Amino acid sequence: MKKIYLILFVITNLIFYNCSKDKGPVEDEQTPGNVSFVNDVQPVFDQNCTSCHPNSGNLDLTASNSYNQLVNVDASGYPAKRVVPGDPEHSVLYKKIDGSGVYGGNMPLGNSLSAVQIALIKQWIEEGAQNN
Ligand code: HEC
Repeated sequence: MKKIYLILFVITNLIFYNCSKDKGPVEDEQTPGNVSFVNDVQPVFDQNCTSCHPNSGNLDLTASNSYNQLVNVDASGYPAKRVVPGDPEHSVLYKKIDGSGVYGGNMPLGNSLSAVQIALIKQWIEEGAQNN
C-alpha cells in the first residue's frame, strides 16, 4: 500500500513541475516592448551613425529627431519606408544594416554593426517600432 502512495506522490509532483515549468517562457514571450528605442536603439545611432547622419541621405539620426525621421517615413533614396512597424524585411533601415545590399551600401558606410546590434534593431522593429 505504501508503494502506491509513493508512486502517486511522484506522479503528482511531476505534473506540477511540468505545469509550472511551462508557464515561464510563455509569459516571457507575451511581454511587449522588450527593446527600448531611447535606451537601446538610440545609443547605437549615437555611436555609429550620427557623425554622418545629421544630414547624409536626408536622414537625421540624432536623439529627439531620429524617431520622427524613421517610422512610417518614405526613404529619400529608395521607393520604400525607412521603418515599417512589425516588418523589418520591408524597412530600409534594417536592410541597410543587415549586409543584404538591397538598398545600396551597408551602414555604417564602409563598416558593419555587430550581430547583437543588428538583432536589437530588428527586434525593435518586430515589436512595433515603438517610441519607448
Ligand atoms: C560615413 C558616413 C555614414 C555613416 C557613419 C552612416 N551613414 Fe547612413 N548614409 C550615408 C550616406 C552618404 C547615405 C546616402 C547614400 C545611401 O543611401 O547609401 C546614407 C543613407 C542611409 C540610409 C538611407 C536613407 C534614405 O532615406 O534614403 C539609411 C537608412 C542609413 N543611411 C542608415 C544609417 C545607420 C543606421 C547608420 C549607423 C548604423 C549609418 N547610416 C551610418 C553615410 C553614412
